[in-house]
Amino acid sequence: MGTGCARAFLCSMVNRPTLVLIHGFPQDHTLWKRQVPALTPFAKVIAPDLMGFGQHVDLPQVMTMEAYAEKVHGMLEQQGEDRVVLCGLSMGGYVAMAFAERWPERLSGLILSNTRSTADDEEGRAARLATAHRALQEGTAVIARGMVPKLLSERTRKQQPELAREVEAMMAAQPANAVAAASLGMAQRADRTHVLRRSRIPSLIITGSDDTLMPLPTSRSMHAALSGSQLEVIEGAAHLTNIEDPERFNELIVRFLTSGPLAHA
Ligand code: MLT
Repeated sequence: MGTGCARAFLCSMVNRPTLVLIHGFPQDHTLWKRQVPALTPFAKVIAPDLMGFGQHVDLPQVMTMEAYAEKVHGMLEQQGEDRVVLCGLSMGGYVAMAFAERWPERLSGLILSNTRSTADDEEGRAARLATAHRALQEGTAVIARGMVPKLLSERTRKQQPELAREVEAMMAAQPANAVAAASLGMAQRADRTHVLRRSRIPSLIITGSDDTLMPLPTSRSMHAALSGSQLEVIEGAAHLTNIEDPERFNELIVRFLTSGPLAHA
């Protein structure tokens, strides 16, 4: 461990924040398996399943981003967590922004990875309805297969086919009702750029240079709206930056947790 690293580690042990990791669509908490052990020395890490993912439960037909945020808030209340650093990837970012809108005082930091603050357009909403219908009619394996090329860069898929299989299997295992309800919920989500504009929460935005789902200008706009935020682009990664380049992703999070405005808050 270098001196910088040692200092960061010691600081984090004294003032260890709680870090909540919110997965994307259609995934579960195992998305974060390369983060939880690596980040645990620097934070108390909580990686929940959004309602319906990772488990079979009865669900409303539509799960809005507000509804997921309420569940996350309820979980924090139950666990006696007051202020946390909330990190959401993609749909997890939509949930994090819904949380930040309603409970900004509960956030000591915000990490938005591979996400956007804007709402869907008509075409996007129509695609969400089609996805929901398909999940219910044909099952989640079909959705998972179609999504992998959008989530991982071509290089990752070629060089690490086992990673592509792992991601596909995780998504295929999600219950159809959860996938459909989340898809319909995302279609209804509001533009939350105003939440970023008025936020004073120390924030980090992460994206991948090859993310075609959330292209770089999307992250740049969030960065412009979010005063004092930091924008980091992981080269060669696409949408799932946290598993395509976990070392870089983890390093960015550790740096955010242990230095800058968050460490001095
Ligand atoms: C995700 O990874 O969570 C989804 O790609 C988000 C979306 O479809 O907007």
